[in-house]
Order: sequence, then C-alpha cells, then structure tokens
Amino acid sequence: MKEKKLEAEHSSFRFVLALSSHSIQLNMIKVRNLSYTYAGQSSPTIRDISFQVDNAEIFGFLGPSGAGKSTTQKILTGVLKNYEGSVVLKGEEISKISKHFYNNIGVAFEFPNFYLKFTAIENLQLFASFYNCEKYDAEMLLKKVGLWDDRNLKVEAYSKGMRMRLNFIRAVLHQPKLLFLDEPTSGLDPTNARILKDFILELREKGTTIFLTTHNMTDADELCDRIAFMVEGQLPLIDEPENLKLKYGKKTLKVKYQSGESSVLEEFDLKGLGTNNEFLKILDEKEIETIHTQEATLEDIFIKITGKKLV
Ligand SMILES: Nc1ncnc2c1ncn2[C@@H]1O[C@H](COP(=O)(O)OP(=O)(O)OP(=O)(O)O)[C@@H](O)[C@H]1O
Ligand SMILES: [Mg+2]
Repeated sequence: MKEKKLEAEHSSFRFVLALSSHSIQLNMIKVRNLSYTYAGQSSPTIRDISFQVDNAEIFGFLGPSGAGKSTTQKILTGVLKNYEGSVVLKGEEISKISKHFYNNIGVAFEFPNFYLKFTAIENLQLFASFYNCEKYDAEMLLKKVGLWDDRNLKVEAYSKGMRMRLNFIRAVLHQPKLLFLDEPTSGLDPTNARILKDFILELREKGTTIFLTTHNMTDADELCDRIAFMVEGQLPLIDEPENLKLKYGKKTLKVKYQSGESSVLEEFDLKGLGTNNEFLKILDEKEIETIHTQEATLEDIFIKITGKKLV
C-alpha cells in the first residue's frame, strides 16, 4: 500500500517535472504586463506589453525610432531594473537571476562598446574571460565575418561596419542559448549584412533563441519566425510575417504587355483570375513583358495597422 502511494507520488512528481521542463523549453522569454518609466519622466516609455518567445525562435521587434525597442531589450537583458510586471527568461525572473545566468545570454547593443586601444583579438579574449562556459573559436568567428586579416588592428581604427561585425561575434562568442541583437545589420554593406544574416539563421538552426530588434523590414521578413510591432511603447500586433501578408496583403496581379509601340500595365484581382476574360484575353493575344503578384510589404502593413511610418 505504502509502495503504491510512493509510486503514485513519484509519477505525479515526474509529471510536474516533465511539465515544467516542457514549459521552460517552449518559452525562452515570457513577458507579462511589462511597463517601464525612465527616472524623471512623467509617462511610461513601455506600456503594459505582454509576449513570449519560444525556444529556437527568431522573434523580431519592429517599430519606428523612439518606440521603445532598445528600452525593452535593456530591460530583458537586466540593464534597466525597476520595471513593472514580469520578465521571465528560461523560467527565471530577470530581476532575481544570478550572475552565472549570463553565460546563457548574448547581447549585441545598438552602439558597440569596446576597449578602443585593444586590438580586435584582445577585445575578444577579454570578453571571453568573463564567461566560464564553452566558447567558439575566435579565429573561426573572425574569419566568418571577414575580420581575420584585421585582427591585430586596434579597434579605434575600425570602421562602423567592422565594429558592428565585431560586436556581433562578441555577443555569440560564449555560445549563448538566448541572443539579443539590436539593429545587427545597421551600417553594413549588403555583402556583410548577408554574412551576418546567414550566421543568424545558422545559430537558430543550432537551437539559439534570437530576439532581433530592428526597423529594417526586409531583414525582419527574411529572418523572423514571428514579429511584434512596437508603437509608442505598446505592441498592437504580433504574428508570423506570412500570416500578416496573407491577412493584410493586397491580393492582385500586375501584368505588363506590349500594345503597339508602348507597354501597358494592368492590375487584376487574384480572386477569379482563371475565369477573368479580360485577363485571359491578354494572355492569349498580347506579348507579355512581366507578370507579378502584388504582395504587401511588412512596411505597408505596419503603416496600415499603426498609422505610423517606420522611420
Ligand atoms: N536613458 C534615458 N532616459 C530617458 N529617456 C530615455 C532614455 N533612453 C531612451 N529614452 C527615451 O525612451 C524612448 C524610447 O527609446 P528607445 O531607445 O527604446 O527607442 P528605439 O525604439 O530603440 O528607437 P531607435 O529605433 O531610434 O533605436 C525615447 O523617447 C527616448 O528618448
Ligand atoms: Mg534602438
């Protein structure tokens, strides 16, 4: 009898354990009713926001300048304290976590901060020494972002784009499970932006959860599993980019064709296109130059929902 009772207790304990590890697994970040007011300000910068980020998800945080994106990232990384509401990372309230927890988190701030008199490799060595966990090989990281040849150059001689790349590898150096990136491609040329974006996707494949703050809609569309729109400290919408485009996108098609000496551009509803005689006649009789479906960009959708421009 006693054994049976013990067994029942064990199995319910296992069940609770399984449940809690499951929820930790699923929610890397859980924010509830978060508000924040800067000292000396009369009104809050962050106004009662709630969201969660799943394990191995790239979560985009989008909004115009001054919306509160960097403020939110600073709260989530423990830089700004005295917030209202709850911010739970990997099951632990951020205000209560121990220093050791920072081994799990990588942060690339909006404005890179380095020891300017040190070389890139010295900076990386210094930052690596702050963490007592497994790290990536600095040579591999420097080569990956094209900084290996300049590894012995003092950071004061680095350009903005070089600092941004160094800032990125510094944030991922200690293989964090949760990575916060604030405008990671800002100031980068297309080739280097591509390298960082591919790296971000690779990290997600390895199971890293990424909180990506940006006002670059193209990056957000390309990288993010879900995006949150931030406007004046609030989050009016959170959804997958594809869902947003399906819900709010214009569903039309533009066809350009030759007519005599000139080109003509016409737009048709996608709905009923297969039985639209006017469209079918063009296909049949005209020399087509281009055909494009008209997808709304995230920027269009942002403006439609919030009434605000992104920049
Ligand atoms: N230290 C501070 N003290 C007081 N107000 C601040 C402070 N830092 C930021 N703010 C204010 O908080 C608001 C949100 O700023 P935040 O930097 O979070 O915006 P953001 O969305 O990251 O903008 P951007 O896209 O320009 O980086 C702004 O009005 C800003 O002036
Ligand atoms: Mg910012």
